Amino acid sequence: MSDLNQKSSTKDTRPYSGYHNRPVQHSDDFITQVGPGTPGGEYLRKYWHPFLIASELKDLPVPVRLLGEDLIAFRDHSGRLGLLHRHCIHRGTSLEYGIIADKGIRCCYHGWHFDVDGRVLDTPAEPQASKIKVNFVQGAYLVKEWMGLLFAYMGPVDEVPELPIYDCVDNPEDNQAVPFRMQVPCNWVQIVENGADPIHNAYLHAIVAGQQFSEAFKVLPQLDFPETPLGFLSMATRKVGDYIFIRASDIILPNFGQFPNGANRVEKQSVGLRPFLTRWSVPVDDHHSFYMGFAHLNSYNASVRKMSKEDFGVDRIPFIGQTGDRPLAERQREPGDYDAVVTQGAVANRKAEHLGTTDKGVVLFRRMLAKAIRDTQDGVRPQKPKLYNNAKVKTYCHEIVVKAPEGVDFTDPQKLADFGRSAAMYFVEFEDFSPKEREAMVTQRVQELLNALCTAAG
Ligand code: FES
Ligand SMILES: [Fe+2]
Repeated sequence: MSDLNQKSSTKDTRPYSGYHNRPVQHSDDFITQVGPGTPGGEYLRKYWHPFLIASELKDLPVPVRLLGEDLIAFRDHSGRLGLLHRHCIHRGTSLEYGIIADKGIRCCYHGWHFDVDGRVLDTPAEPQASKIKVNFVQGAYLVKEWMGLLFAYMGPVDEVPELPIYDCVDNPEDNQAVPFRMQVPCNWVQIVENGADPIHNAYLHAIVAGQQFSEAFKVLPQLDFPETPLGFLSMATRKVGDYIFIRASDIILPNFGQFPNGANRVEKQSVGLRPFLTRWSVPVDDHHSFYMGFAHLNSYNASVRKMSKEDFGVDRIPFIGQTGDRPLAERQREPGDYDAVVTQGAVANRKAEHLGTTDKGVVLFRRMLAKAIRDTQDGVRPQKPKLYNNAKVKTYCHEIVVKAPEGVDFTDPQKLADFGRSAAMYFVEFEDFSPKEREAMVTQRVQELLNALCTAAG
């Protein structure tokens, strides 16, 4: 495996020393490979992954490439979902040209007929006594539908985990979870790392490349990455005018993330679970991915930025710089996430990086991921999101805006960071409560914490 801790050594710091400082050789990366039989691929195959918006599946089979495998998805005429190896086990014709049946799909070439679970139902040109039907199956994977997304499980059939149902889709009460799917021509790990890198919100989205987020993001934050039961929070705490603004995103292994919107102007107090985007970073293969999930349209998110259902869909999301279809000059003048992440390379050369202190979240994610992959190699079942007594899986993504009390010196970076972490972790401490109760309890504890700081400051 590659050594994630290896630092590039300082070689030659003279001006114009490009010759002496060329990037070190790229190496196959333990954490980035997704194909069958690779350590990372085997780990990812322990989880459910979304792969299509349900409405993308119409009356014809849809070719899908997922975790380096070529597949076709379809819904048979009985309404059952199928995800089969793309090439027919007879002589390899693509089932993209298969004819969907009441039960399963029939290959166009010689009519072999496969059920959604891969069983061979019929081999019409073969003699009655043929044993093909009992001796072989077309490779098939389980598919489930949840909230307008189709999820696949591509791991061993005797280890099927529960499909995690997350707590983010019906809070607040008026929430509408709107599906989207965006293709990105690079490895999936880069997309997760972008979410674990909150300092880029200040530079790429506010200071350097254009005003994509609100003015508040120009204030440099204290960063922190406290661990949660399933991953960690990627958080930034800022003092914006008279307020303290805490913004915490979920990073949940392997590839789930939730992010508040970037439009908070930090003008009024508010404490709550505030995902705006819930997304999975899904590997197509080592060099291509998509991120997909839901945008949460609700009264809170609308209060900072108006959006409608129609703004989201396949390769559609209403933020600048999320696709590669803008003219190059426009992308150069105002680059966005797509430009920053894709240009790291189809697989970023991690051997040639020079990491700084703000990359702690990126490093933490790589370490957690590498450990989970090693554990899987050692036969240890990786940690999974659990349904607690059939309740939804708890998540932690939130925003907190509170008035900074006079007398407490929040220009002290450590004090600001400590306050941010304590406040954020109340969302973990009270995770067993309903979202409403959780928000009320966190609000109360944050106020108590501020009072205590005031008292201590005299
Ligand atoms: S190739 Fe599919 S039935 Fe012959
Ligand atoms: Fe971003």
